[in-house]
Amino acid sequence: MRKSSMPKVVVTVPLPAEVLATIAPHADCQVWTERELIPSAVLHDWLRDADGLLCSLTTSIGEETLQHANALKVISSISVGLDHINVDAARQRGIDVGHTPGVLVDSTADLAVGLMLDSCRRITEADRMVRAGGWDAPWSTAFLLGRDLSGATVGIVGLGPIGQAVAKRLRGFGCRLLGWNRTPRPVLGVELVELDELFRAADIITLHTALHSTTQHLVDARRLALMQEGALLINTGRGGLVDQGALVQALTSGRLWAGLDVYEQEPLPPEDPLLALPNVVLSPHLGSATLRTREAMMRLAIANLLAGLAGKPLPHAAPS
Ligand code: DGY
Repeated sequence: MRKSSMPKVVVTVPLPAEVLATIAPHADCQVWTERELIPSAVLHDWLRDADGLLCSLTTSIGEETLQHANALKVISSISVGLDHINVDAARQRGIDVGHTPGVLVDSTADLAVGLMLDSCRRITEADRMVRAGGWDAPWSTAFLLGRDLSGATVGIVGLGPIGQAVAKRLRGFGCRLLGWNRTPRPVLGVELVELDELFRAADIITLHTALHSTTQHLVDARRLALMQEGALLINTGRGGLVDQGALVQALTSGRLWAGLDVYEQEPLPPEDPLLALPNVVLSPHLGSATLRTREAMMRLAIANLLAGLAGKPLPHAAPS
């Protein structure tokens, strides 16, 4: 039952009080504050009389959810990726969808390069070994040898803002850069090649393309088999870009290395075979996880939400 004449906004993720305070003058918020995801039944119930929905990539919004949201005007996601939302279905119902582009470019590019350095120089592996008491012999010429990022051939899959920011960083490392984009796009210092050619030629492949039906499992068993022995796969995009079962097989065989921030299932289940493999660095979806970036994402998401509630065009609407 509505308590006031203000619009109602459902918030599916816990948010800082000062962020919620910026919505309070404009709408009443019903906020999910638990650690686990909001159950669908609760979401559907809350959405029945909601004008706005503020969510993150952990809330899936498909046809079924939208059927419970007859009053909804705007969905604002605190994410740049929108693969958790059926944007077309929302638009058909007259619901605006907003996201947070631009502000997480640098943080995500930094993490991608961080995973490259970590994997190439075996930093996490070495840290585990030192803590476990495995550093038990003096300096020697063959101890924990890695590979150089400097001068490596790096294939960038997806040359949008994050792919370009990765290219900018890697130019500083003197890397040879190969690139592929769905619609070919010139980027300084990047040689555009066919996707399979990129997989064959690169020492390191890094994924920066959005997840949708045509990019689902873009990295499958066939493409993994194209990669050179000892090549490294970095994924800070979306887990669904990679057939994770096929990747586990390739890693288990020792042919490849990987640095992953995103997974087909998040959080990674405790029994996931990736956890037992030494040749993969695992981070828990941290691409945008800096204070400055998260503040900026929330700012953009609130601006989208308030514009949608007011019937104005969203400043950062989902691309069509
Ligand atoms: C996004 O915004 O889509 C990112 O994955 C969040 O880190």
